[in-house]
Amino acid sequence: MSVFNRDDDSGFARGERALLVLPDRGGNSGGLRSTEARLDEAEGLAEAIGIDVVARRAFKLRNVRPASLFGKGQIEEIAEIASENDAGLLIVDAGLTPVQQKSLEEGAKTKVIDRTGLILEIFGERAATAEGRLQVELAHLDYQAGRLVRSWTHLERQRGGFGFLGGPGETQIEADRRLIRDRMARIRRELDQVKRTRGLHRDRRQRAPWPVIALVGYTNAGKSTLFNRMTNADVRAEDLLFATLDPTMRAFKLPGFDKAILSDTVGFVSDLPTELVAAFRATLEEVESADLILHVRDIAHPDSDAQSADVAQVLTTLGLDEAGSPPRIEVWNKLDLLGGDDRAALLAEAARREDVYPVSALSGEGVDKLSEAIAARLHQRAEVHRLKLSAGDGNRIAWLHAHGEMLDQRMDDETVHVAVRLSADNWARFQSL
Ligand code: GTP
Repeated sequence: MSVFNRDDDSGFARGERALLVLPDRGGNSGGLRSTEARLDEAEGLAEAIGIDVVARRAFKLRNVRPASLFGKGQIEEIAEIASENDAGLLIVDAGLTPVQQKSLEEGAKTKVIDRTGLILEIFGERAATAEGRLQVELAHLDYQAGRLVRSWTHLERQRGGFGFLGGPGETQIEADRRLIRDRMARIRRELDQVKRTRGLHRDRRQRAPWPVIALVGYTNAGKSTLFNRMTNADVRAEDLLFATLDPTMRAFKLPGFDKAILSDTVGFVSDLPTELVAAFRATLEEVESADLILHVRDIAHPDSDAQSADVAQVLTTLGLDEAGSPPRIEVWNKLDLLGGDDRAALLAEAARREDVYPVSALSGEGVDKLSEAIAARLHQRAEVHRLKLSAGDGNRIAWLHAHGEMLDQRMDDETVHVAVRLSADNWARFQSL
């Protein structure tokens, strides 16, 4: 599904030929990434929605022009490359103001899409659940509304003394803004409804006697492949970014447990535009209530460390590194792509570090060891607690089943006697229930 309006002239079609440009501000603006790697990522994003990148180029920005971002000579060069390559679309791997977008459209004589627009388009195509779709639509309307407001002030300034001449009138823009606002209000109401229903589902699931393990990781790290490997399920795994926008959950076997649930999530990207955070966060709610987080990394990727830092940062903003958050295990995936010394060095480092497991989701190497480690981590520092609960305390008893190993459960009158093995984390959580 696409939330973009294909009728207006900013729309584009699958298979469209595009020129990709990266404004390179120098310094540390791109984090630890090389220019080439950043171009690769942006090209991957474009390919994920079927755009054909026929040329790409980084431009050094000496001083940022508020009106057009690039310098005059650079824009001429961009127009030339676009025309030589017959590209009808210009992708700018940065956030553009509406004014910049407009002047680039005029200068390059192409349609222009910025990074936010591109990611929105991907979210729109990949959103699988009602909530995902609503969140994306909300983010898109918000993006549009921002553009309306700003281009409106721009027009006002431009019109100056000729108030009644040309351009969309103030009333039209006001009406558009009101339409967008109404639409957003309606979506927010629908979202509340959807969230309530989902909350019910989650409660029901949490009462099931299984631990939940959530996969997170950078886009294309191999989460879906590992998910399939561990659960033997055929969920979509594509060599595309964002193959999964909404969490997918499936039961699997874990040593020492009756069953466990694995939950796959949408991939992270660098510099996620702030206005998309809510849509992305909606896909991560399952992670917050997980018993364990598996952070899957593409360890063969040249930017593996920068990607890992991005993921860690998002988890931090979600409050997932505070006390009481689920413990984390790092999975170093794509081991099969490394050979010789690189491989040996990596294995040695993983062995030195706690909670790091090298695997190949593709070949299956290391996956059994990972499963054992997950089981061990869930049992870690586990102690047996003997408790007396009231028979009416179904929720807490169910919670114990879900998060611990129930060794004994007996009923006498209105009292339930249980013996349960719980990790220290879970014992603390139980006491605060
Ligand atoms: P998103 O859904 O975009 O977040 O991606 P993902 O993290 O779910 O990645 P996915 O499982 O779709 O894998 C991305 C690509 O990496 C696919 O082409 C996989 O075949 C490939 N891949 C995954 N695991 C491995 C691995 O262990 N070794 C190699 N060589 N390739 C792998």
